[in-house]
Amino acid sequence: MTHLTRRNWLKTGALTLTGTALLPHMGVSEIPRGSVRLNAQGQILHSPFLKEYLPMAALNAPALKAKLNANENPYGPSPKALEALKKASVTGNRYGWRELFALIDKLAEKEGVTPDHIMTGPGSSDLLEKVGMLSFIQGGNVVSADPSYMSLIKVAEAVGATWKPVKLKDDWSHDLDAMEQAIDSNTKLVYICNPNNPTGSITDAEKLRAFCKRVSAKVPVFVDEAYLDFIEGGEAQSMVSLVAEGYNVMVARTFSKIHGMAGLRFGYMMAQPEYIEEVQQITRGGMGISQTTIAAAHASLEDQEFLLMSRENNTKVRNHVVKSVTEMGSAPAPSYTSFIIFPIAMEGKAFLDQMYGHQVGVRAFDFWSQDWCRVSMGTMEEADIFLETLTKVLS
Ligand SMILES: Cc1ncc(COP(=O)(O)O)c(C=O)c1O
Repeated sequence: MTHLTRRNWLKTGALTLTGTALLPHMGVSEIPRGSVRLNAQGQILHSPFLKEYLPMAALNAPALKAKLNANENPYGPSPKALEALKKASVTGNRYGWRELFALIDKLAEKEGVTPDHIMTGPGSSDLLEKVGMLSFIQGGNVVSADPSYMSLIKVAEAVGATWKPVKLKDDWSHDLDAMEQAIDSNTKLVYICNPNNPTGSITDAEKLRAFCKRVSAKVPVFVDEAYLDFIEGGEAQSMVSLVAEGYNVMVARTFSKIHGMAGLRFGYMMAQPEYIEEVQQITRGGMGISQTTIAAAHASLEDQEFLLMSRENNTKVRNHVVKSVTEMGSAPAPSYTSFIIFPIAMEGKAFLDQMYGHQVGVRAFDFWSQDWCRVSMGTMEEADIFLETLTKVLS
């Protein structure tokens, strides 16, 4: 089933009368496991607003010259992390609990919380999904922006939640007032992705802090900060201080982005100790993390030089791509992340097929009656391959 092409899938007559179908997980990165919902046009239906064109070629993709479709860090993992990982491999016969607890202690110190505020997982997806599952076992609704990152929302919907999407504002920030108004007696959680994926945009930290303080008195607020490290001085914009102050706020972080460890899988979440305990009673957070990954994460946290290099190069490449795309006549959304999104004057499916045809992997979305390209910031060389290909495809 995993190897089924969309055409074959359509031939099987799997489309329902309502024009939607469920397609098993197709190895498209960042798309939650399980199944994806397709509309009659063969687009992945993330939400009423957000549709994604399916990269057919990705299924049998030849090696990509520029893999810019999953917001991975092209420089990682850090050399120190790799060294630690190799050393740790010889203790692979042992469970890594002791090392994991030491890592949690280190993270707690960095974040200004106590270790019982932290839960770890193989990537933050794991934590988003666990929260999504546990929060909605008895139904209810979840409020989040649209478009936004769909991992938690998809799981929440799968276990019976209703999703209340709130359109981003024209300046690309979360519409916090409208989100607050959308909360009702059935709302179990508010999800905020800041900076947001797939738009790259940011919501003002002070406004968000005030929102979290007010709203968390009624319902928990989950803030996904996967891309915060790409902002210089980004720590000041984190909502983690609210966790330390006792608010019912959860903050998720990942080592998949600035740490360049997407394939090694490590993420963590900070929340009130009672909540962490509640989740851990059902599922132990650290069980899915390998000894080698724990060692790599320890070392990566110490490698300030690598983290700084990753951030600076990301900014340099992003400025270059934004400038070039703007000169080509498009208008990228303001990005604070390792990717940008911009409108394309071409049908998204044809665009995606042509980009993959030139061995350049990107993403194409359809929202607000417009087709968009989302491209990750690879190396400068990959960025130039992307820009050259973009010029060919769009001309
Ligand atoms: C906003 C956001 N949150 C969470 C994740 C999950 O990352 P991971 O499971 O690799 O930690 C991603 C991945 O792209 C993301 O974009």
